[in-house]
Amino acid sequence: MINFFQFLVSTILSILLLIVIAFADDHGNIIKERKSLFKQNYSHAKRMSAEITKGNNEKVIELSQKMSANYDKLLDLFPDNTKTGYDTEALPTIWLQKEEFNALMIETSNKVKEFTVLASELTGDELKDAQKKLIWSSCKTCHDKFRMPH
Ligand code: HEC
Repeated sequence: MINFFQFLVSTILSILLLIVIAFADDHGNIIKERKSLFKQNYSHAKRMSAEITKGNNEKVIELSQKMSANYDKLLDLFPDNTKTGYDTEALPTIWLQKEEFNALMIETSNKVKEFTVLASELTGDELKDAQKKLIWSSCKTCHDKFRMPH
Protein backbone atom coordinates (compact mmCIF):
# COMPACT_ATOMS: atom_id res chain seq x y z
CA MET A 1 0.00 0.00 0.00
CA ILE A 2 2.83 2.39 0.91
CA ASN A 3 4.56 1.49 -2.33
CA PHE A 4 1.45 2.28 -4.30
CA PHE A 5 1.11 5.59 -2.48
CA GLN A 6 4.75 6.46 -3.21
CA PHE A 7 4.22 5.51 -6.83
CA LEU A 8 1.17 7.73 -7.05
CA VAL A 9 2.91 10.73 -5.46
CA SER A 10 5.97 10.40 -7.65
CA THR A 11 3.81 10.05 -10.76
CA ILE A 12 1.87 13.18 -9.91
CA LEU A 13 5.09 15.07 -9.17
CA SER A 14 6.60 13.96 -12.48
CA ILE A 15 3.53 15.10 -14.38
CA LEU A 16 3.60 18.48 -12.62
CA LEU A 17 7.29 18.85 -13.44
CA LEU A 18 6.64 18.09 -17.11
CA ILE A 19 3.87 20.68 -17.20
CA VAL A 20 6.21 23.29 -15.70
CA ILE A 21 8.96 22.43 -18.21
CA ALA A 22 6.53 22.49 -21.13
CA PHE A 23 5.22 25.88 -19.99
CA ALA A 24 8.71 27.38 -19.59
CA ASP A 25 9.73 26.01 -22.96
CA ASP A 26 6.57 27.35 -24.58
CA HIS A 27 7.58 30.88 -23.58
CA GLY A 28 10.98 30.41 -25.25
CA ASN A 29 9.40 28.94 -28.38
CA ILE A 30 7.04 31.88 -28.73
CA ILE A 31 9.92 34.39 -28.55
CA LYS A 32 11.95 32.34 -31.04
CA GLU A 33 8.99 32.07 -33.39
CA ARG A 34 8.27 35.80 -33.42
CA LYS A 35 11.96 36.60 -34.03
CA SER A 36 11.98 34.15 -36.91
CA LEU A 37 8.83 35.73 -38.44
CA PHE A 38 10.35 39.24 -38.27
CA LYS A 39 13.54 37.92 -39.86
CA GLN A 40 11.48 36.29 -42.61
CA ASN A 41 9.64 39.55 -43.23
CA TYR A 42 12.95 41.36 -43.54
CA SER A 43 14.14 38.89 -46.15
CA HIS A 44 10.73 38.99 -47.94
CA ALA A 45 10.98 42.80 -48.12
CA LYS A 46 14.52 42.71 -49.55
CA ARG A 47 13.61 39.99 -52.04
CA MET A 48 10.53 42.01 -53.03
CA SER A 49 12.71 45.01 -53.92
CA ALA A 50 14.83 42.81 -56.18
CA GLU A 51 11.78 41.25 -57.85
CA ILE A 52 10.22 44.69 -58.49
CA THR A 53 13.40 45.68 -60.33
CA LYS A 54 13.19 42.48 -62.38
CA GLY A 55 9.53 43.16 -63.17
CA ASN A 56 8.48 39.86 -61.64
CA ASN A 57 5.15 41.00 -60.17
CA GLU A 58 3.88 37.49 -59.58
CA LYS A 59 6.71 36.87 -57.13
CA VAL A 60 6.16 40.29 -55.52
CA ILE A 61 2.52 39.37 -54.90
CA GLU A 62 3.47 35.98 -53.44
CA LEU A 63 6.03 37.57 -51.09
CA SER A 64 3.65 40.26 -49.90
CA GLN A 65 0.96 37.67 -49.19
CA LYS A 66 3.43 35.74 -47.04
CA MET A 67 4.37 38.96 -45.29
CA SER A 68 0.84 39.96 -44.30
CA ALA A 69 0.15 36.39 -43.12
CA ASN A 70 3.24 36.67 -40.89
CA TYR A 71 2.00 39.95 -39.37
CA ASP A 72 -1.35 38.28 -38.69
CA LYS A 73 0.43 35.43 -36.87
CA LEU A 74 2.59 37.89 -34.91
CA LEU A 75 -0.51 39.31 -33.23
CA ASP A 76 -0.74 36.20 -31.03
CA LEU A 77 2.97 35.99 -30.26
CA PHE A 78 3.26 38.61 -27.51
CA PRO A 79 1.52 36.98 -24.52
CA ASP A 80 2.24 38.34 -21.01
CA ASN A 81 4.76 35.60 -20.15
CA THR A 82 7.12 36.57 -22.99
CA LYS A 83 8.34 39.97 -21.80
CA THR A 84 11.89 38.86 -21.08
CA GLY A 85 14.44 36.17 -21.87
CA TYR A 86 15.72 34.44 -24.99
CA ASP A 87 17.42 37.67 -26.13
CA THR A 88 14.13 39.33 -26.85
CA GLU A 89 14.40 42.90 -28.10
CA ALA A 90 10.75 43.59 -27.35
CA LEU A 91 10.28 46.71 -25.21
CA PRO A 92 7.98 46.78 -22.14
CA THR A 93 5.91 49.46 -23.95
CA ILE A 94 4.33 46.61 -25.94
CA TRP A 95 2.52 45.35 -22.84
CA LEU A 96 1.92 48.82 -21.37
CA GLN A 97 0.22 49.89 -24.61
CA LYS A 98 -0.99 46.55 -25.89
CA GLU A 99 -4.03 47.92 -27.71
CA GLU A 100 -1.94 50.45 -29.60
CA PHE A 101 0.67 47.78 -30.43
CA ASN A 102 -1.97 45.36 -31.73
CA ALA A 103 -3.67 48.12 -33.73
CA LEU A 104 -0.33 49.00 -35.33
CA MET A 105 0.30 45.33 -36.21
CA ILE A 106 -3.16 45.08 -37.84
CA GLU A 107 -2.66 48.38 -39.67
CA THR A 108 0.73 47.15 -40.92
CA SER A 109 -0.78 43.91 -42.19
CA ASN A 110 -3.55 45.89 -43.95
CA LYS A 111 -0.99 48.15 -45.63
CA VAL A 112 0.82 45.07 -46.96
CA LYS A 113 -2.51 43.75 -48.29
CA GLU A 114 -3.10 47.11 -49.98
CA PHE A 115 0.36 46.78 -51.52
CA THR A 116 -0.51 43.27 -52.78
CA VAL A 117 -3.40 44.76 -54.77
CA LEU A 118 -1.15 47.51 -56.18
CA ALA A 119 1.42 44.90 -57.21
CA SER A 120 -1.01 43.61 -59.82
CA GLU A 121 -1.50 47.13 -61.22
CA LEU A 122 1.84 48.97 -60.98
CA THR A 123 5.41 48.29 -62.09
CA GLY A 124 8.90 49.79 -61.77
CA ASP A 125 9.38 53.07 -59.91
CA GLU A 126 5.69 53.43 -59.12
CA LEU A 127 5.65 50.06 -57.40
CA LYS A 128 8.96 50.87 -55.64
CA ASP A 129 7.37 54.06 -54.25
CA ALA A 130 4.35 52.11 -53.06
CA GLN A 131 6.68 49.61 -51.38
CA LYS A 132 8.50 52.42 -49.59
CA LYS A 133 5.27 53.92 -48.38
CA LEU A 134 3.32 50.77 -47.51
CA ILE A 135 6.06 48.35 -46.45
CA TRP A 136 9.45 49.85 -45.58
CA SER A 137 8.10 52.82 -43.61
CA SER A 138 6.19 50.52 -41.19
CA CYS A 139 9.36 48.92 -39.84
CA LYS A 140 10.77 52.11 -38.34
CA THR A 141 7.41 53.37 -37.09
CA CYS A 142 7.03 50.27 -34.94
CA HIS A 143 10.69 49.73 -34.01
CA ASP A 144 11.11 53.30 -32.73
CA LYS A 145 8.48 52.69 -30.13
CA PHE A 146 8.37 48.95 -29.46
CA ARG A 147 11.80 47.43 -30.19
CA MET A 148 15.08 48.00 -28.30
CA PRO A 149 17.71 50.05 -30.09
CA HIS A 150 20.05 47.54 -31.75
C1 HEC B 1 4.14 46.37 -35.28
C2 HEC B 1 5.54 46.33 -34.92
C3 HEC B 1 6.62 45.94 -35.86
C4 HEC B 1 6.67 46.09 -37.24
C5 HEC B 1 5.61 46.66 -38.16
C6 HEC B 1 7.95 45.56 -37.66
N1 HEC B 1 8.67 45.11 -36.58
FE1 HEC B 1 10.51 44.26 -36.64
N2 HEC B 1 10.37 43.86 -34.64
C7 HEC B 1 9.37 44.30 -33.80
C8 HEC B 1 9.63 43.85 -32.45
C9 HEC B 1 8.76 44.11 -31.23
C10 HEC B 1 10.83 43.12 -32.50
C11 HEC B 1 11.54 42.40 -31.34
C12 HEC B 1 11.04 40.95 -31.24
C13 HEC B 1 11.77 40.16 -30.16
O1 HEC B 1 13.02 40.22 -30.10
O2 HEC B 1 11.09 39.47 -29.39
C14 HEC B 1 11.27 43.14 -33.90
C15 HEC B 1 12.43 42.50 -34.37
C16 HEC B 1 12.86 42.56 -35.67
C17 HEC B 1 14.05 41.90 -36.16
C18 HEC B 1 15.04 41.07 -35.33
C19 HEC B 1 14.61 39.62 -35.29
C20 HEC B 1 15.59 38.77 -34.46
O3 HEC B 1 16.08 37.79 -35.00
O4 HEC B 1 15.85 39.12 -33.30
C21 HEC B 1 14.17 42.21 -37.49
C22 HEC B 1 15.27 41.77 -38.46
C23 HEC B 1 13.03 43.03 -37.84
N3 HEC B 1 12.24 43.22 -36.72
C24 HEC B 1 12.79 43.54 -39.09
C25 HEC B 1 11.64 44.22 -39.46
C26 HEC B 1 11.39 44.73 -40.78
C27 HEC B 1 12.36 44.65 -41.95
C28 HEC B 1 10.15 45.28 -40.75
C29 HEC B 1 9.40 45.94 -41.87
C30 HEC B 1 9.33 45.28 -43.16
C31 HEC B 1 9.63 45.14 -39.39
N4 HEC B 1 10.57 44.49 -38.63
C32 HEC B 1 8.38 45.56 -38.98
C33 HEC B 1 8.27 45.03 -34.17
C34 HEC B 1 7.89 45.34 -35.47
